[in-house]
Amino acid sequence: MTNLKLFRSSFLDFIADPFYESEENSVRYIPDGLLVVEAGIIKDFDHYSILKDKYQGFPLTHYPDLLIMPGFIDTHIHFPQTEMIASYGKQLLDWLNQYTFPTERKFSSREYAQKIAAFFLDELLKNGTTTALVFATVFPQSVEAFFEEAYQRNLRMISGKVMMDRHAPDYLKDTPETSYQETKQLIQTWHKKGRLLYAITPRFAITSSPEQLKLAGKLLTEFPDVYLQTHLSENLKEVEFVAELFPEAQHYLDVYAQAGLVGDRSIFAHSIHLSDDEFKRLSEAKSAIAFCPTSNLFLGSGLFKLHKAKSKIHPINVGLGSDIGAGTSFSLLQTANEAYKVAQLQSQTLSAFQALFLATLGGAKALKIDHKIGNFEIGKEADFIVLNCNATPLMDLKNQQILDNQTRLEIAEKVFTLIILGDDRAIQATYIMGEMAYTKK
Ligand code: GUN
Ligand code: ZN
Repeated sequence: MTNLKLFRSSFLDFIADPFYESEENSVRYIPDGLLVVEAGIIKDFDHYSILKDKYQGFPLTHYPDLLIMPGFIDTHIHFPQTEMIASYGKQLLDWLNQYTFPTERKFSSREYAQKIAAFFLDELLKNGTTTALVFATVFPQSVEAFFEEAYQRNLRMISGKVMMDRHAPDYLKDTPETSYQETKQLIQTWHKKGRLLYAITPRFAITSSPEQLKLAGKLLTEFPDVYLQTHLSENLKEVEFVAELFPEAQHYLDVYAQAGLVGDRSIFAHSIHLSDDEFKRLSEAKSAIAFCPTSNLFLGSGLFKLHKAKSKIHPINVGLGSDIGAGTSFSLLQTANEAYKVAQLQSQTLSAFQALFLATLGGAKALKIDHKIGNFEIGKEADFIVLNCNATPLMDLKNQQILDNQTRLEIAEKVFTLIILGDDRAIQATYIMGEMAYTKK
């Protein structure tokens, strides 16, 4: 009990999935709580009145009128695409050729990659994102640069070298063999180094030959506790091209399944145009989907069927993805805002609690890391954020219409305003393993 840190504020987290459980059983709101952190790990968590005598005399940080939540988890993002956010006028395949590939070429320079990785991680922390599943580029040095910067910041980050050996410019292509060897080397160096984890990263079925996909599958059997991340069924022209390239496959997901890539540590970004069989097989495999609404709208890709993915018959783990740089915001609050509108366009509802679940515990479950992060359970790592629900005059005005914030119903209104109007301005501070890593000036 020598090195304890105490945080007093109101707290919101999730103890079950609000898509399947009532709010009463899934949402935990404590209007005046105390979080006790020891060596970066949550040691205790409860109402302030219950714990205050037990922890008298330890240093206390008090955030009255603010809200503490678990750090946000971004389940799909590309760090090298930071600088090409907001690139005009194209859908996926043209956008890749015109903007993405030339940008990713710059990351053959380790120095350049390091500079952008540092900017990217600062941007994540400023937006309250403490963990992300991150695409690097085809160049192993871009992965090294990213992991090095994340390691220095003690962040729980997952990333990997993009594997791509066809349908891309020569300057961005590897081969099945080099991608296998380089990936293996990177796994051996970085997987489980500090809080870092590795994801085998074939870009998508169009840019990987069947041989390369097979070798990705071989790596997964050789290193069963690493992740697999790729893109799936994002754009209709992409889906058509995949069907031409793999005529023997039943559907897009089957291309990956045939290579042994569809497992319980696989995360498929987008997954917009799925057949019923693909939904069913993702559920059976316990794979996860990264729902990337700002990107899906920006590239005109389509409306993700969240309600189908979260159906009780074939439930699939879903997390939110910003998908920078096709996505238009680093903020998972803004991503939740767009997710709400995507649901509206399909006559579905998405509550703020459900959206914030996707951004925290849901993301942790999608990444099979909910034993470490995602809520304030004792024993988990203390990555958390301090939110200001009245960060702007407009948010403040709106919140004056709510009488008090002592109950779950009132906080429901407040956090809905937060996801619709909030962004990085609402992030007052970000803590990593109990240490302040960002504070708003
Ligand atoms: N599909 C293959 N590569 C990419 C990418 O970089 N961004 C998006 N949004 N989709 C992809
Ligand atoms: Zn992507």
